[in-house]
Amino acid sequence: MKTTIDQVKNHLDETVTIGSWLHNKRSSGKIAFLQLRDGTGFIQGVVPKSAVSEEVFELSKTLTQETSLYVTGKVVEDSRSPLGYELQVTDVEVIQEAEDYPITPKEHGTEFLMDHRHLWLRSKKQHAIMKVRNEIIRSTYEFFNQEGFVKVDPPILTGASAEGTTELFHTKYFDEDAYLSQSGQLYMEAAAMALGRVFSFGPTFRAEKSKTRRHLIEFWMIEPEMAFMDHDDSLQMQEEYVSHVVQSVLQNCKLELETLERDTSKLENIKAPFPRITYDDAIQFLKDQGFDDIDWGDDFGAPHETAIAEAYDKPVFITHFPVEIKAFYMKPDPDNPNVALCADLIAPEGYGEIIGGSERIDDFELMKQRYQEHELDGPAYEWYLQLRKYGSVPHSGFGLGLERTVAWIAGIEHIRETIPFPRLLNRLYP
Ligand code: 4AD
Ligand code: MG
Repeated sequence: MKTTIDQVKNHLDETVTIGSWLHNKRSSGKIAFLQLRDGTGFIQGVVPKSAVSEEVFELSKTLTQETSLYVTGKVVEDSRSPLGYELQVTDVEVIQEAEDYPITPKEHGTEFLMDHRHLWLRSKKQHAIMKVRNEIIRSTYEFFNQEGFVKVDPPILTGASAEGTTELFHTKYFDEDAYLSQSGQLYMEAAAMALGRVFSFGPTFRAEKSKTRRHLIEFWMIEPEMAFMDHDDSLQMQEEYVSHVVQSVLQNCKLELETLERDTSKLENIKAPFPRITYDDAIQFLKDQGFDDIDWGDDFGAPHETAIAEAYDKPVFITHFPVEIKAFYMKPDPDNPNVALCADLIAPEGYGEIIGGSERIDDFELMKQRYQEHELDGPAYEWYLQLRKYGSVPHSGFGLGLERTVAWIAGIEHIRETIPFPRLLNRLYP
């Protein structure tokens, strides 16, 4: 009977056949151990010379790494393996014998691995990261569906820039100019006025010339937008969302977190509420810590974010940034119009900003004034201003960067390993 590695637990003492690849192998004169993988997981196949035909034993000893196989054997318990089961092999059928595989169990340099990303994805660690990524996506849909959100898909080709014009990817749209979306937010605001609570999940693009372990050129963002929700309501939604995702990964990715050697004790107490600190207090805190390279009005760099994060064992909201260093659509605080009703959520352990969000300007006249200050005009922006004319309401939203969230939860040093095929500065292949 054909099955998959994640299902062997339901076939104890039965003989099953698994379509798989040879991940690794060890053998002696009397026994061969085949490390098999099939996408759903990893299992060891044991081939004792005494229990199989001469032909099967000889074949098992000569199999090359990544050869595709149908392996047949009896499922038995094995308390030493992370899976808890192994396969007592009775038959091996080669589908395709792999040529010399470039990625051996030895260490390889980063550039080499990145050039072979199409193969590197098969490794145990990369497999585990992709499974964590998938669980974050799955639990994101689960959370927002439970909370009554409707999934809405904003366009990728746009005429407008939501997050400033310096990092836009330009393309021709027949005779017009167009850009790859930096954020779906402006469209999500329109959708929130139609559907109340909405969220999007899609690729976004930033032509950032920065080469850091936190920046991708193409990354995936989850962008919820909520009518009748103010800044504080939004912070509450954010902390509940992030808690749900972390707890889901802890519950459903135990094997993967073990493979990644993630210290899960640091994730267990990630539960709402999260601490909040104002921008003003954050600046003061940094000065007290001895940072003399930052003043009121500056944006935080990675070392600043890390220093702030280290003061807490949960993600921390930095709120009320100066209006000048934030996007044009953010609502000024009525009590102090120099600062915006906004927050960045900083992940613990130095993983940096994972969410940016704010309450949006809902007043037509104020938005018009912002348009003038930011020189926004033309058909790409007219429609967005119009939203403030027809039943405008208080509304808020935020964007969570998927890859930075994967990096944090999986405990991955560099963001390039958190997306199947990263687009980085100077890297378009594979
Ligand atoms: O803070 P950002 O630029 O916010 C927005 O785009 C808003 N329009 C979102 C909204 O309110 N709907 O980006 C949001 C998040 C950041 O916190 C970060 O996690 C991630 O997107 N991000 C990046 N991730 C990887 N590589 C990059 N170059 C990123 N730029 C932003
Ligand atoms: Mg931001």
